[in-house]
Amino acid sequence: MPDPSRRKVILGLTGGIAAYKAAELTRQMAQNGIEVQVVMTAAACGFITPATMQALSGNPVYTDMWDARVSDNMAHIELSRGRDAIVVAPATADFIAKLVHGLADDLLSTLCLARECPLLVAPAMNRQMWDNPATQRNVSQLKRDGVVVLGPASGDQACGEIGMGRMLEAEEIVQALSAFLAPKLLNGVRALITAGPTFEPIDAVRGITNQSSGKMGYAVACAALEAGARVTLISGPVSLPAPAGAQITRVETAAQMFEAVKRHVAHTDIYIGVAAVADYRVDKPRQHKIKKTDEAQLQLKLVPNPDILGWVAGRPKPPFCVGFAAESRNLDEYADQKRRRKKVQLMVANLAQEAIGADDNEVTMLDDAGMHRLERAPKLVVARQIVAHIARLYSSKKKRKS
Ligand code: C5P
Repeated sequence: MPDPSRRKVILGLTGGIAAYKAAELTRQMAQNGIEVQVVMTAAACGFITPATMQALSGNPVYTDMWDARVSDNMAHIELSRGRDAIVVAPATADFIAKLVHGLADDLLSTLCLARECPLLVAPAMNRQMWDNPATQRNVSQLKRDGVVVLGPASGDQACGEIGMGRMLEAEEIVQALSAFLAPKLLNGVRALITAGPTFEPIDAVRGITNQSSGKMGYAVACAALEAGARVTLISGPVSLPAPAGAQITRVETAAQMFEAVKRHVAHTDIYIGVAAVADYRVDKPRQHKIKKTDEAQLQLKLVPNPDILGWVAGRPKPPFCVGFAAESRNLDEYADQKRRRKKVQLMVANLAQEAIGADDNEVTMLDDAGMHRLERAPKLVVARQIVAHIARLYSSKKKRKS
């Protein structure tokens, strides 16, 4: 399936030292399925070359109002048509002041003035320039004019000082931009998502777990948040930061995950079980560390864990249920068997040996209509497509009911 979430953005660079971060920003935008058209001011070209930005964006860079590559010399109009947003990063104090006053003396400022799409700016400047009442007045006015201001952050500055005015990191800008651009397909919908592995103790220091990193579950939570859902994330032990905006409960064992799910399920519209829940736990884990003995064998008795997804889907009034199946072979067949057995509306299948711990994933979605393959992409890009598919199924189910 082609990626329906592909967005087209103009990235404007103005002349500040943070322009070097625009290289990484461009790379991350492209990785997130955003097509980038770079426009630079003359001052920006003093900090980073158009050639670098062209190589990273894969598109010719524009710096001049009178660029002959644009028909009718209308670059200031043409370039922003059909774009989903203009993002100015870094935005200097001077450029912000120009935006506030509607000045248009170069290509980027004219594009901003003549735009039909939303404008986002990521300020970057020395702390005294940021704190100056003139800049503060200008930023307040920009916000009143409907411009989205991303950051800045506080910290070390290129001038050697410490304070407010650092441009946000590329990852933070891409996250904010993706959330801003995402269609709000799940606006207000309550999503309960499990993620990561579980850890089943053997004794005071040892346990049984698996190699799930939680990356896919956290990506699904981010994508659901971007789509406007109210997300509760129940996470097994992982080393990932909580997605901004999610209500997170951290657990270790499958039993704890089950209890947390039970507490939240009554207030859930969509349940997405991404967690790699251990099928078995150790019966009566020892309170103290098991000592090594001369015995030839040490036997552990394992007992089955509850099937959390099966339990949620089997409730009298279940939420819309989605499962994830990681298989090492016969992927489609096993995943579809699981979908039918657990009675879930959608099962997302991936090859365990390729998906676990990786940054990319390639999945097949199985539902009543059949199989839908998504091509290999970063997990967040895949998650956005899965969430879009869930939203379609969920809304058609709701329509059928009403
Ligand atoms: O482990 P299995 O392949 O059956 O996992 C398929 C789906 O079932 C996943 O969505 C997983 O989160 C869920 N599951 C669960 N409780 C279990 C085992 C799996 O909720 N004990």
